[in-house]
Amino acid sequence: MNHIKIDLERILGNVDRNIFGTFAEPVGRVVYGGIYEPDCALADEDGLRSDLLAAVRRLNIPILRYPGGNFVSGYRWMDGIGPQQERPSRHELAWHAIESNQFGTNEFIKFCRKLKIKPYICTNCGDGDMREAADWVEYCNGTGDTALVKLRREHGFEEPHKVKYWGIGNEVDGAFQIGYKTPQEYARAVTEFGKVMKRVDPDIKLVASAACQWQGTRWKSAKVEVVERGQLMLEQAGDRIDYMALHCYVHNPENDFNKYMTLSELFEERLSAYEGLIRAVSLDRGIKHPIYITVDEWNVWKHLPRIDWFQNLEDALVIAMNLNAFIRHAYSVKMANISQIVNRRSPILTRGDSLLMQTIFYPFELYSRTCGQQALDVFWNGETFSGGEYTGVRTLDVTATLDESRKQLVVYVVNRSQTEAMETTISLADGQFAGNAQISVVNGPDILAENTFEKPNEVGTGETALEASGKSFTYSFEPHSVTALVCAIS
Ligand code: AHR
Repeated sequence: MNHIKIDLERILGNVDRNIFGTFAEPVGRVVYGGIYEPDCALADEDGLRSDLLAAVRRLNIPILRYPGGNFVSGYRWMDGIGPQQERPSRHELAWHAIESNQFGTNEFIKFCRKLKIKPYICTNCGDGDMREAADWVEYCNGTGDTALVKLRREHGFEEPHKVKYWGIGNEVDGAFQIGYKTPQEYARAVTEFGKVMKRVDPDIKLVASAACQWQGTRWKSAKVEVVERGQLMLEQAGDRIDYMALHCYVHNPENDFNKYMTLSELFEERLSAYEGLIRAVSLDRGIKHPIYITVDEWNVWKHLPRIDWFQNLEDALVIAMNLNAFIRHAYSVKMANISQIVNRRSPILTRGDSLLMQTIFYPFELYSRTCGQQALDVFWNGETFSGGEYTGVRTLDVTATLDESRKQLVVYVVNRSQTEAMETTISLADGQFAGNAQISVVNGPDILAENTFEKPNEVGTGETALEASGKSFTYSFEPHSVTALVCAIS
């Protein structure tokens, strides 16, 4: 028997809605042929697909990072403004493509506005310089009588775009990156970029890129350098930045379900390590303002030659485990951006006039729809399993949130058993369940089930309800499932 015990007083921190952010980079069919497809029969007056807009709305996305990604390390943002017919095409050296520049800053802002999403722009700290970055801030946010502000107005935007979140470079620690920098060079660049960008607009929030980590194993081999990088950047530029960015891509190369399911431990290790690092350097350097973590690229990324592979049910469980980790670290993880919004290991795929919701769409939608404002510190015990290097891992991966009025509790549970339902008692230390629990379960026939254009509904969300009164109730979590119990409490 499993037991989940919840004390409504044990609040870990406020959940920042920005953990439900996403990311868009002009690579493959993410922007061209994804977000922006003027020739599609479903495109609106701005060239945006109406079916995509509707699907993105369901994900309740609060913030969108753009335009990179590796792409930004060679991007000249001024190519992407002004009359579209006058914009230059360029060789795009990150992904070896031709960039037409038909979608640029103002198209991005229009897309965000249409969906009520906050824009987050990542600047070029590869082959770009601090002047370009500061100019981009001024073009977007400036209100003075300057050439760049006049230019924005000429382009049809009288009012500033008010872009609050700005990144300084993308994965600058990767040797593959255009304009790769040593830790010292990057820390220095953050100091100088940050200085001028904040002088242009002191209200912006700055993100520095700390570490790109692709695989679980990479963390092990890269650990020392990763920590050193983060430390150096924080020591030299910590007083300038508001967020430290991590990237985290995982997959299941050995087709070992149990091992894959222990990734929760790795997420936990990484987030705790970075929290500790930030705390240690902040104390050492007397940094008074908070520096938060943003996981501004994360997802399951299978390294297959085909780029059009589908995510399956086990990937959907990993997405939920990631979201659980962000909720558990709500006091430090204040943004996360699932990578990418469409057509690249994304919750949503398009093909011709069709649109598909992948398996990972469903846990993401469920959490972003139901998540409360406060994360709770939950106690649970029960069955365990072993996988990879981990033993004694709890079969259920559990988090809970509370809404501000304290009338609604949401318990999120990933059942990582491939075969067994998990009978569980859910009890409150204080307060009462007030009679009604809405139950949403993401599941499918087996862990390898995929949604495809031919069979789009193999994995989805089922809804039921349950009478839950008094101090506790019992529920049986289906094998290989993600469940949200939305409970009224008094
Ligand atoms: O999404 C593809 C790439 O993954 C991004 O460009 C890069 O930042 C990450 O490594």
